Amino acid sequence: MNERPNALLNIGDKTVELPRTNASIGNDGIGVSRLMADGGVVALDPGFTNTASCASAVTYIDGDAGILRYRGYPIEQLAKNSSFLEVAYLLIYGELPTQTQLENFVMRVKNHRLLHENFRAFFTAFPHRGHPMAILQAGVAGMATYYEDTLDPRDPAQLDTAAVLLLAKLPTMISYIAKRAAGLPLTYPDAQRGYTEDFIQMTFGMPYQSHDIDPALVRALDMLLILHADHEQNCSTSTVRLVGSSQANLYASVAAGVGALAGPLHGGANEAVLRMLHQIRDTGDPVQVFVDKVKSKAEGVRLMGFGHRVYKNYDPRAAIVKETAHDVLSRLGKRDELLDIAMELEAIALSDDYFKERKLYPNVDFYTGLIYSAMGFTTKLFTPLFALGRLPGWIAQYVEMTKDPATKIGRPRQVYVGEVERDYVPLSRR
Ligand code: CMC
Repeated sequence: MNERPNALLNIGDKTVELPRTNASIGNDGIGVSRLMADGGVVALDPGFTNTASCASAVTYIDGDAGILRYRGYPIEQLAKNSSFLEVAYLLIYGELPTQTQLENFVMRVKNHRLLHENFRAFFTAFPHRGHPMAILQAGVAGMATYYEDTLDPRDPAQLDTAAVLLLAKLPTMISYIAKRAAGLPLTYPDAQRGYTEDFIQMTFGMPYQSHDIDPALVRALDMLLILHADHEQNCSTSTVRLVGSSQANLYASVAAGVGALAGPLHGGANEAVLRMLHQIRDTGDPVQVFVDKVKSKAEGVRLMGFGHRVYKNYDPRAAIVKETAHDVLSRLGKRDELLDIAMELEAIALSDDYFKERKLYPNVDFYTGLIYSAMGFTTKLFTPLFALGRLPGWIAQYVEMTKDPATKIGRPRQVYVGEVERDYVPLSRR
């Protein structure tokens, strides 16, 4: 029995009953699909600040309490105990794998890490300074041309293969993009190495040299990928779902997600944070001067890496990343001036009324760039690292959408505010 009542909405002299979808935890949903038919109006919610686009069982966030859970498991436990591929399995298939399931999954991913040889030429077609996210987006979309027997989202076996191919090939693709940008030889995947370790080897190693990688750094990067793995209906994930709702294949949908993630208000913020820290250091002004500029809103400057649509509390991922930043930097023997600036910025902002009143806290991007930079990744590679981390989430949400009987092609309405009707005026009379 549904103990939570439907909503009643009065529009003029009509009362429209809006059905309620119960959440297992968090906000229930009020269905507005009948609003137009029964009330003659549409729901208007720019930026979807109050609109759920779907029912989902993948990720739960409580932004006020600073809680993030994948399939019910707290992010802190997964970050501490799990591996990126295990988390990918959890997100996509809904349960933690048994030992055999995990081994099979890891093996499937391992077997597909190699990119089609033609891809080497594909990456040379782009200017070497071209942004890696643009190249990555093209590469992901291009996979659809190589694996045509994995394109049908209505066939679970094809979809599953596409998911494995994407997980397997994205690290290789990102490493190729990095190597091309630096003019260095591409390195093939090494089956002896684990997923994240091999990604580091392909990105920094040379084909003619054996490269020992500190396991603590491999673990740190693997953990950062876990922290990025899903974040419910964020901009890029909603993009993946919207594109996929037309039954576009998984590669096309994920490529669209890569495009959305590239924006500076979304995944591109990690790059923007580092640029901001450099700028503060280079001006030599006290950190407070920059904070004052942000508060004045005069130049539209924002404190990058701060604020979040959902978190109105400390982003639980940021807390873990901050700790990792200290560990990684001290492990690499780098006393980073930029980390000092970041910590001062955070301290000033957290005690300032402007940020307190607006509930602006550090988000996941605030400290990640510092770690990536210390590991040797160039700034332009930060957002591709976010894409690699977010990939399991995009896949899991796409798969969930294809299985959901309520899925329809995404097609929002609008409230039209333009000219009502006018007659065409010939050019000579304008
Ligand atoms: N610095 C200064 N002021 C800010 C900031 C910021 N980083 N973020 C929000 N505000 C202010 C904003 O000016 C507004 O003030 P007022 O009420 O006086 O007009 C108020 O806070 C609410 O901001 P909003 O833009 O309406 O909030 P939103 O939910 O639409 O935006 C956001 C969320 C993440 C886009 C925004 O906080 C932002 O631009 N942050 C900086 C970029 C960033 O770090 N993005 C990464 C997000 S986390 C990773 C990811 O999901 O990709």
